[in-house]
Amino acid sequence: MRVLVVGGAGYIGSHTARILRKRGHEALIYDNLSTGHAFLANGFELIQADFADLARLVPALSRVDAVMHFAASADAGESVRDPRKYFENNFRKALTFLNAVIDSKIRYFVFSSTCAVYGAPSRVPITEDLPREPVNPYGSSKACFEYALKAYDQAYGLRFASLRYFNAAGADESGEIGELHVPENHLIPGAFEAVLGLRPELQIFGDDYPTADGTCIRDYIHVNELKRCAGRCPNASLPAAPETHRCWLPTPQKQRKF
Ligand SMILES: NC(=O)c1ccc[n+]([C@@H]2O[C@H](COP(=O)([O-])OP(=O)(O)OC[C@H]3O[C@@H](n4cnc5c(N)ncnc54)[C@H](O)[C@@H]3O)[C@@H](O)[C@H]2O)c1
Repeated sequence: MRVLVVGGAGYIGSHTARILRKRGHEALIYDNLSTGHAFLANGFELIQADFADLARLVPALSRVDAVMHFAASADAGESVRDPRKYFENNFRKALTFLNAVIDSKIRYFVFSSTCAVYGAPSRVPITEDLPREPVNPYGSSKACFEYALKAYDQAYGLRFASLRYFNAAGADESGEIGELHVPENHLIPGAFEAVLGLRPELQIFGDDYPTADGTCIRDYIHVNELKRCAGRCPNASLPAAPETHRCWLPTPQKQRKF
């Protein structure tokens, strides 16, 4: 299968492109490099463009059978300060992109969603059926796109998977690529930067959670586990699945549906 990996020069997209190729798919990377890095797409064809730039997007779509969508603005804190940016990139522009996918007659779509669509869940472990009640604009913008996917599924026969994962961490087995956000505001690489003396200290936010030391407990998923899950989506589950909406919840209760 030929797959357009949108956001494939970012952290999770670049790892997924590699497993797609390992599984015999052809991956074409599409990214505007707003937070990504060209070297993460080394060895792949990279189309450097915005996903709402239809003059560049439509010819790329004509070359593939499926789309995996990793491109987003993804900083929850920033989304509170600048919600406009988040609804613009993650919903308005993303909808322009999704419409072009439908018009191009592509029917297989994998969306990188987030656990942030659940907000503060009423119970843990979170199960897929819990209500989506995001507490920040990042989560809301992702939930809005999920609603569009569901409606497009019903109206236009779009087969989609929506992966609502928690924090990703770790690096590719090859050691060639790993997590790289600039600025790096993720905890695991931040801890390594602190150990290496690249930042003065590791800051952990929040001290009033109901835990022994008051700091919060977060779920993590290794990027290789995530990419293996995403890599199975394009042609394994989707065409045959009667219910097209899937999510991926990692620890403490794993829900494998692929
Ligand atoms: N990293 C995590 O822990 C985590 C957790 C849950 C969900 N997610 C989701 O996974 C996806 C990937 O996250 P990541 O950590 O790899 O982020 P990332 O910033 O490394 O990758 C996103 C990529 O999308 C590109 N991009 C953004 N807007 C674009 C646009 N308009 N047109 C074209 N390209 C665009 C960026 O240049 C970047 O390469 C995001 O959708 C994010 O919401 C990430």
